[in-house]
Amino acid sequence: MALQFTWYGHGTFGLDIDGTKIVIDPFFSDNPSASTSLDGVAADFIWVSHGHGDHIADTVPLHKQTGALVIANAEIADWLAKQEVATHAQHIGGGYLHPFGHLKFTYAQHGSGLPDGSDGGNPAGFLLTTADEKKVYFACDTGLFGDMSLIGAAGLDLAVLPIGDNYTMGPGDAVSATKLLNPKHVIPAHYNTWGLIEQDAMAWAQRIEAETDAKPHVLQPGDSFAV
Ligand code: NI
Ligand code: MN
Repeated sequence: MALQFTWYGHGTFGLDIDGTKIVIDPFFSDNPSASTSLDGVAADFIWVSHGHGDHIADTVPLHKQTGALVIANAEIADWLAKQEVATHAQHIGGGYLHPFGHLKFTYAQHGSGLPDGSDGGNPAGFLLTTADEKKVYFACDTGLFGDMSLIGAAGLDLAVLPIGDNYTMGPGDAVSATKLLNPKHVIPAHYNTWGLIEQDAMAWAQRIEAETDAKPHVLQPGDSFAV
């Protein structure tokens, strides 16, 4: 089985699982670090972690462009369904076996208000388990929390963590998170989009090498990593 992760810039990710294409938190049009414009993007599924504008961003146009099924929490799914978007609602702690694999919504310590002020429910992270038992955790937007050790107990092949600080964990807390999660590989995200969240990812990677058992991979927007 082939599993490829792509960082599109900021908190926007792509997964290609044996040809099935997933886009996580599609933010292309107004994203200064986006590696591609929205028109070039293919998707069979879209996952939305929370309601903030830099995550729900291009969800409706990408659905209209591709017909992709949108997987989000119940409040966001209701909000999207009113805009004639096809949705599958889940919620924190709940897993479901989709055609691409098992997707569980995990806790995130953050907000989730939608751009028009609607209630976006609770923010989430994602734990993906593929048919051949590869496990990938996307923390999405969150602060550090101790229960990451429970998520790590699943045995993670890859964790994707925010390091930008200000809105989410910064580099130091992302090192602590890596210790709790104990993944084989770790990729930083949600940084360098704007000056406010500028970080030295290479310095962070050196700390990961020195202080944890995980292998860090610092990508440029548009780069991919085969899991
Ligand atoms: Ni956010
Ligand atoms: Mn964000």
